[in-house]
Amino acid sequence: MAKRAGFATRLGAIAAAVGSAVGLGNIWRFPYEAGVNGGGAFILVYIACIIVMGIPVILSEFIIGRSTHANMKAALRQLSPGKKYYLFTYVCILGSFVVIGFYSVVCGWIIEYLYQAALGNLSGHTPEEYESMFTGLIANPWRCVGWTVIFLILNFIVMSRGIAKGIERVASIMMPLLFVILIIFCINSLLLPGADEGLRFLFYPDFSQLTMRGVLDAFGQAFLSLSIGISCLVTYSSYFKDDTSLAKDATTVAVLDTMVAILSGVMIFPAVFSFGVEPTAGPRLIFEVLPGIFQQMTGGYVWALLFFLLVFFASLTSTISLSEIPITFLIEEHKMSRGRAIFWTALFTFALAVVAALSFNVLDDIKLWGKNIFDMMDYAASNIFMLLGGLFTAVYVGWILDRKVVHDQMTNGGRLKGAMEPFLIFCLRYVAPVSIIFIFLFLTGII
Ligand code: PFF
Repeated sequence: MAKRAGFATRLGAIAAAVGSAVGLGNIWRFPYEAGVNGGGAFILVYIACIIVMGIPVILSEFIIGRSTHANMKAALRQLSPGKKYYLFTYVCILGSFVVIGFYSVVCGWIIEYLYQAALGNLSGHTPEEYESMFTGLIANPWRCVGWTVIFLILNFIVMSRGIAKGIERVASIMMPLLFVILIIFCINSLLLPGADEGLRFLFYPDFSQLTMRGVLDAFGQAFLSLSIGISCLVTYSSYFKDDTSLAKDATTVAVLDTMVAILSGVMIFPAVFSFGVEPTAGPRLIFEVLPGIFQQMTGGYVWALLFFLLVFFASLTSTISLSEIPITFLIEEHKMSRGRAIFWTALFTFALAVVAALSFNVLDDIKLWGKNIFDMMDYAASNIFMLLGGLFTAVYVGWILDRKVVHDQMTNGGRLKGAMEPFLIFCLRYVAPVSIIFIFLFLTGII
């Protein structure tokens, strides 16, 4: 096996997992999904899902990764010799490409907004003007593709410098800063006239607004946001040290990730209602609302720059973790050099991302069930790939994997109490599979 780079410090490993989890999923996608699905009730389902499925599946990926110190395929081979479970790795690899394909387009939009912020164009306009600014951006194939490609080039440059150095440094400085800045924006949003309507939308659960599709969206959103279901955290935890408490680390990742998502909601929705933007605007929501928030603030120019810069870094730590999935796989399973593995991963990623970036303009008449290619990738990534992956992981660790391995990992070989183990097993065996299978069967009309 190729020599594996490790994280220099324990904090480095957790910071990298948090860096993977916190990204556009929290800041861009969570508010838009909550908006489309009616707010409060969606958020309740989302939080429940984080607790009973999210944390258990994070833990499962950690268990697989740390017990073997290997990538998903090698890990499954090692844990279940002679069985074909390792084939699931290919679904994970495909899933990682689908996610990064649409995700890097949104990263491109973030760079465009960073650029517009630098030019001072994110102030002095009406909400309608911000709306047409975004419409103009996605209608322009050159701009969309250009920024996406620039983002990906940066991503793969960082990748070629190796795991420990690149990620660790970026993640541990930027994440706390992003957190602080989100809180400042929340306070500002809450001071807007009519802010209470936004808060009511977010925190008052009106179940009449929630459909089964909304429940599926909440599940998918939780999995995407936590980076689970496509073996990302298997790869990361394969670098974890043997004395860290997996339960503590998994809970830390989930809590921080959920806090960032909720803060993002509290930043966006008071402004949505105050400015009269439709909460159901979808993927464009934050891009139409944020400039309005900045222009209300003293020093809005600097805040806007800082915000987009931090979101850019948060997205980068997520795409780094995404592209590490196929890269590690190619290096360790196909004996490629790191350079070659990065080259092939980059090639596929560029192809998919360019198609996704063109789906609002040149390719906008290609639609399936009313969704363009970008929307389809966005939907399939979380609601199909990550959820199915989560289901596989839960069933594998809950039912198939030797309980001794689970116990060993939860207690660090008997050194910890492992109090969470019964909860973990119950969720993995029953709660997660039953909920995910039920929602799929219901939505496909089988029940
Ligand atoms: N969790 C990331 C986010 O919320 O932005 C997205 C992501 C990263 C998904 C890594 C999947 C993954 F493997």
